Amino acid sequence: MLIALCSVKGSPGVTTLAVALAVKWPQTESTRRLVAEVDPSGGDLAMRFGLPASPGLVSLAAAARRTRDPAVAWEHTQTLPSGASVLVAPPGGAHARAALSTLATAPDGPLLPAVAQEPGVVVLADCGRVDPGSPAEAIARRADALVLVTGTQGDDLAHTAVRLGELARWTPRPGLLLAGDGYPTADVERELGIPAIGRIPHDPAAAATLTGHRPPPARRRRTGGGLAHHAATLARTLAGPTAPAASRSATTPAGVPGVPAQQVRQPGGTVSTPPGQGPHPPRLMPTPPQVSDPHRNGHQPSTAGKEPPA
Ligand SMILES: Nc1ncnc2c1ncn2[C@@H]1O[C@H](COP(=O)(O)OP(=O)(O)OP(=O)(O)O)[C@@H](O)[C@H]1O
Ligand SMILES: [Mg+2]
Repeated sequence: MLIALCSVKGSPGVTTLAVALAVKWPQTESTRRLVAEVDPSGGDLAMRFGLPASPGLVSLAAAARRTRDPAVAWEHTQTLPSGASVLVAPPGGAHARAALSTLATAPDGPLLPAVAQEPGVVVLADCGRVDPGSPAEAIARRADALVLVTGTQGDDLAHTAVRLGELARWTPRPGLLLAGDGYPTADVERELGIPAIGRIPHDPAAAATLTGHRPPPARRRRTGGGLAHHAATLARTLAGPTAPAASRSATTPAGVPGVPAQQVRQPGGTVSTPPGQGPHPPRLMPTPPQVSDPHRNGHQPSTAGKEPPA
């Protein structure tokens, strides 16, 4: 199974989520988990976990020019403390982008989707911020499910709204995952016109632990319902059984187990996101954003409530 994780703006916690899903993936004893850093702006996990830069994405890209055997990919992985494998990308964006472009244009495709087709394998592909023309698109488009992670401040949502329609068509099972403090989930769903598959809370202690950093002081730690809990729920959903075909509408694309297909709500009814239908930016939301902590996943509160372009 190939799960693509991406963002369209800022740093809402995609890499952290990829690691968290690998940690919390069900049946770890019978599942090979691979966190693949295919972020064209460069990787973070080698630095965060004190791993060497190689083997990794660069060495895999070189190997992909010589072989079409997906099993070779495992030779370019390292091991995280959780026991999951990781394909690390170099921190420099130029190197990562070049390696990713090479991998994406390999003769039989970018190898990782083939790796993910093996039974008992889940590849969590951290595609980073998928700007138009991103070389990670070649991998994301081959994924069984795509999880778009977005912050919930006004500026995050304006950017998300612009790309939502396009990204929803990349995979059979797209999902919108909200992150951190900001507008209430119901307001976001209403304004974007789609349901979210979940909301990752602002949880710096768990995020720091998951990414190999020293956690903040204990008094700020959550005791339950934090990032780890939500990641476990999302992992179970992603890994879960396919919904019965009869329960899907005729217009809902089949796909990955457990992830609701993205739907656009229309006046008087609900339909799946149809090809060619453009996204609509959120209107200025009437209620003030929910804020419990001024520090949130790389976003500053100064732009909260900013009215997006009409
Ligand atoms: N749920 C969370 N709560 C609090 N802090 C978080 C959370 N998720 C991630 N962080 C922190 O936010 C920072 C960015 O996280 P991360 O690297 O996962 O984001 P990203 O979306 O991958 O960013 P980029 O696109 O720049 O790679 C890190 O310091 C991380 O510890
Ligand atoms: Mg990242």
